[in-house]
Amino acid sequence: MSWTAVSSAGESVRVRVPATSANLGPGFDSFGLALALHDEVSARITPAGVKLQVTGEGADTAQAGEQHLVIRAMRAAFDVIGSQPGGIWLSCQNKVPHGFGLGSSAAAIVAGLLSARALAGPAGFVALPDSRLLALATELEGHPDNVAACMRGGLTIAWRGVGGITAARLEPVPELRPVVCVPTTPLATEAARQVLPETVPHADAAANSARAALLVTGLTSQPDLLLAGTEDFLHQSYRADSMPATAALIARLRAAEIAAVVSGAGPSVLALPTDDLGARAVARLAGRPDREADWQVLQLSVDSSGAQLIDDSAV
Ligand SMILES: Nc1ncnc2c1ncn2[C@@H]1O[C@H](COP(=O)(O)OP(=O)(O)OP(=O)(O)O)[C@@H](O)[C@H]1O
Ligand SMILES: [Mg+2]
Repeated sequence: MSWTAVSSAGESVRVRVPATSANLGPGFDSFGLALALHDEVSARITPAGVKLQVTGEGADTAQAGEQHLVIRAMRAAFDVIGSQPGGIWLSCQNKVPHGFGLGSSAAAIVAGLLSARALAGPAGFVALPDSRLLALATELEGHPDNVAACMRGGLTIAWRGVGGITAARLEPVPELRPVVCVPTTPLATEAARQVLPETVPHADAAANSARAALLVTGLTSQPDLLLAGTEDFLHQSYRADSMPATAALIARLRAAEIAAVVSGAGPSVLALPTDDLGARAVARLAGRPDREADWQVLQLSVDSSGAQLIDDSAV
């Protein structure tokens, strides 16, 4: 993530944030992969009120005014910084679909926090260094996996330890060709979480930890392990009934030996082929005449940079 202090009254800042796919199968609530599909936010401090312009995803559905997620994140950051502006002007150009498992809420939160920090100038960076910004983003989002990948880019593993929320940043193998299949109907993360059990059998936990280790190896050095490494024992089977089309496409892709998982809380499918032939096979299997849903197939590269503050003066 790049950051420069840009702040004087009336000046605007611009932030670009990637979509993210969380869980990746067995990495429930900890693994995240940043994808090259971006929302962009421009923000400015004004004397009073909230003025909002949204184009693209969420233009008709996102909350308005102070309830808008980017504004809420900005307000939370200004609270920590200790100086709340009277008003905010915000313009959002959104490409990440809302409620489809591609980290739109994390993108909005990270965009809001980074914009506020930049608008606050040096005091913003003192009050909200990256470590605190990650903690605050996690608090607003409820879990760290998407926000960590959104901030850092690439592959991240986030966890809560004695020092708070921390994320390790790993570099995925260059041959990875992520393909996301997005159905037509969204599913709120909250709804997907409600079907998860309080406890799981010990044998499932043991199997899941082995697969998570395999997945890291597959994503970073031995892609032939990706099919085995994307098998999960903690969440996907419990969620299958609430997203049958998602479960059916994943089963079809995996039967063709293509690693495929529920993206985030679903209902999108993330496939992880490692060559163009595999990526084309995903599109073909998702587009079969007897398909269970109309899938929009997006071939996306990995975003290695993570969230960026764009310095317009340098352009
Ligand atoms: N760019 C945005 N601007 C304003 N609100 C947003 C934005 N992105 C997401 N939201 C809010 O977050 C909700 C979607 O969050 P939710 O966590 O359910 O799905 P997601 O983040 O797209 O998928 P997942 O969390 O599974 O990756 C939207 O309905 C909207 O209320
Ligand atoms: Mg979300």
